Formats: sequence, structure tokens, C-alpha cells
Amino acid sequence: MSKKTKIQSLTGMHDILPEDQKYYKKIYDIVSDIACFYGFGKIDTPVLEDLELFSKGIGASTDVIKKEMYTLKTKGGDSLGLRPEWTTPIVRAYIQHGMQSLPQPLKLWYFGPCYRYERPQADRYRQFWQFGFEVFGEQSPVIDAQIIQIFHNILKELKLKDLMIEINSIGDSNCRPYYKKLLSNYLKSRESSLCVDCKRRIKENVLRVLDCKEEKCQPIKTEAPQILDHLCEECHSHFKEVLEFLDETGIPYTLNPYLVRGLDYYTKTVFEIFPESGNEAKALAGGGRYDKLVKLIGGKDVPACGAAAGIERIISLMKAQGIEGSKDLEIQIFLAQLGGLAKRKSLSLLEDFRKSKIRVGESFGRDSLKAQLNRADKLGAKLTLILGQKEALDGVVIIRNMKTGSQEIVKLDKAVSVVKAKLKK
Ligand code: HAM
Repeated sequence: MSKKTKIQSLTGMHDILPEDQKYYKKIYDIVSDIACFYGFGKIDTPVLEDLELFSKGIGASTDVIKKEMYTLKTKGGDSLGLRPEWTTPIVRAYIQHGMQSLPQPLKLWYFGPCYRYERPQADRYRQFWQFGFEVFGEQSPVIDAQIIQIFHNILKELKLKDLMIEINSIGDSNCRPYYKKLLSNYLKSRESSLCVDCKRRIKENVLRVLDCKEEKCQPIKTEAPQILDHLCEECHSHFKEVLEFLDETGIPYTLNPYLVRGLDYYTKTVFEIFPESGNEAKALAGGGRYDKLVKLIGGKDVPACGAAAGIERIISLMKAQGIEGSKDLEIQIFLAQLGGLAKRKSLSLLEDFRKSKIRVGESFGRDSLKAQLNRADKLGAKLTLILGQKEALDGVVIIRNMKTGSQEIVKLDKAVSVVKAKLKK
């Protein structure tokens, strides 16, 4: 690298600066509260895993595996991959830690970064954060509906408006092979009109033709046989029940027969949640049932269902809709001091506020009152405590209401209780 080249963060990867932490915190707090309510335990897995876990679980012919994996070889010759998603590592952990023998359903949630070498664009990153929920050991359709309800609730709690839930069933090993044959026969008869990628998909991953966005493939898709007409008895009744549960909860959804998802492990229900902002809108969350994955990774035959949401996409929508981040990272009051004695007293006063869980801003480096009041204003302090040389000698402090400018003198040992009362108002 030449001396003049500035070192920057990698393309598609970004720093999360202090001013953006309030959004992550708000989402984290809501997600963890909801996870706790529904009885999910938090899990963290390493960002690096054996590459085989991902190719086996996600599917060798998916874009995620073929084009988007960050891989590396260790000095010992092992092939590893940075996790492009959490479901496969969690299945690995579920098997490895014998969670199959614990009472089921076993419910896990997570919150952390993933890596995909995608073409960076708005709301598409190479390092992005997901939160997600996975339920193991329960095949009832009520779980599918509950997962959708959990994501719907989280986005509602965040006060996001205009969301769309799209849902489909992609069948299972009973009915999907027949449908795939039917679909590929149909597509082969129209192959010359398909885009280059779809021509390849017919051989490699025919269902993916259904979510192709190319203009020229749209009319062919519209006339293609639909999987919902070819589900086996079990998948059909499972899907019907999922929809009945959703109807019961009043969560609005639309059937999207073209929704197939980009990961190979799904069976039966699949869904995605979108903002209602035009065709270019990218999914905020997606998931579904994956009844065969635990067995595929080497565990017992355990049904499972889950979903994950993209945190950057949620934050970008929060900002677009004027939704604020967590207030918990903002200061409530500011402590301004003037002179040596005041500065000394300020340190212990600050401690009193910390013990009372009142968040105090200060600027001990500045000595002018004007500069400190400006800072208090910028930080959004509701009150500023002013401690000058005279106040310090008299054992009092001035409390200034930043909105009205009115001031009041109170004894130093009463400062915490007076501030508490004023903040409650
Ligand atoms: P996914 O649809 O690949 O599913 O990703 C879930 C969410 O992560 C997407 O809806 C999107 O919001 C976000 N996301 C994905 N790629 C990017 C990116 N490059 N930049 C920004 N955000 C992105 C899964 O990952 C499955 N593991 C979900 C699941 C859990 N299925 C069952 N359990």
C-alpha cells in the first residue's frame, strides 16, 4: 500500500458510531424483552465455522454459498467461513450441546453481525447485523404463526408503519420434487425467453426462477404452475392452519406464490416482511420452517422454524419514518462548574447522581459558564446544575431549567432528590 493511500473501512462494511448506537440499543431492548416474554434463551456462536457446515446447511448451489461466502484457510489447512447467517451455526450448537435431549420446544434468539460478499448498495452490506429467533422440536403450525407474530410485534413496538408480510409454502420432500419437475418442464419450454441467470437456475435451483426480478422473466413467471396448487395433503393442511392462526391474531398478510427464499433448507412455510415502499424495497425480515436441517447437519429428525431480521434495514426505515432511537443513552442533566473548589465538589456530586441512576453530562475541561450551558443545550439536558465558587462555599447549587431558563438554589445534600422530583414532572 502506498504511503498516500488512506486506510478506510472495507467496502460494504461500516462503523457504528456513537450517534447510531441509540438505534441498536432500542432494537436490542425491544427484541430482548420480547424474547424473554416468549421464553427464548439467548445464544451467541463464533463468527467463524467450518465451511462445510454452511455449504451443507445452506445449499451448495445457493448464491450465498457460491458467490457470497468469506472463506479462509487456516495455517493447519482447515477451510473456514465467516457466518453469512445464524441458523446453521445454531443448529450445529443445538446438536453439539445435546439440546435435543432437553425439554422441547427449545427456543433460542440471537443478535449480531453476519458477512456476505454481496454487491454493496443501499441497505445491502457485506457486514450487517441480524437478530433472529429459532424454535426446535415442534412441528405444529402454531409455531410458524408465532414466529411471524413475534417479528410483527417487534416491528410494531418499534412503531414502524406500512409493513407487508408475504407468505408462501414451498412444500416438502413429498411434494416439492414433483413440483420442481413440473416447473422445470414448463420453463424449458420457454427457455429462450428467460434471462441468462434463469437459464442456469433451471438446472441448478429451479425454484429461484420464481423470485427473479428481470423484466423479461416476469410474463413467464406469471403463467408458471404454482406450488400452492401442488402441495401434498400434509403441507396443504399445515399451511391452511398457519393462515388460520394468523387470521386469528389479526396480523395482515398476503400470499406470494413466488416467494421461495435464497437458502435451501426451508420446508413448508416461508415468509418475508417488507416496507410498503415500492418495488425496490428490500426485505426487513425473512424466515420459515426447516424441518430437515437438524438431521442434515447430523442430529436427530427434529422439526424447526425461525426467522431473522436485518438491523441496518430496520434502522434505515426508522430514520425514514422519523422514529427515534433509545433515550437511555442521552444525558438527563448537566453539571456546570466554575472554579477550583466547585470542580472538587463536582466529583462527589457526580457520584451521588450515578448511584441514583441519573445520567449526568459534564465538561470539566471547560471553565466558561456560557460554553458549558451551550454544551448542556447540545446534549439535550433538561436541567443544568451550576456550581460556582460562592455556591461551593455556601454548600448549595443552582438548578436551571433549560427550557424556561428559571433557576432555583438548593442545598447540595438535597440536590439529588430535588432533581429526581423535577425529572419526574
Ligand atoms: P435472510 O433472508 O437471508 O434469512 O436474511 C434475513 C434478513 O437479513 C433479510 O431479510 C435482511 O433484512 C437481512 N439481510 C440479509 N442480507 C443482507 C445484506 N447483505 N445487507 C443488509 N441486510 C441483509 C436468513 O438469514 C435466515 N437465516 C433466516 C432464518 C432464520 N430462517 C430461519 N431461521
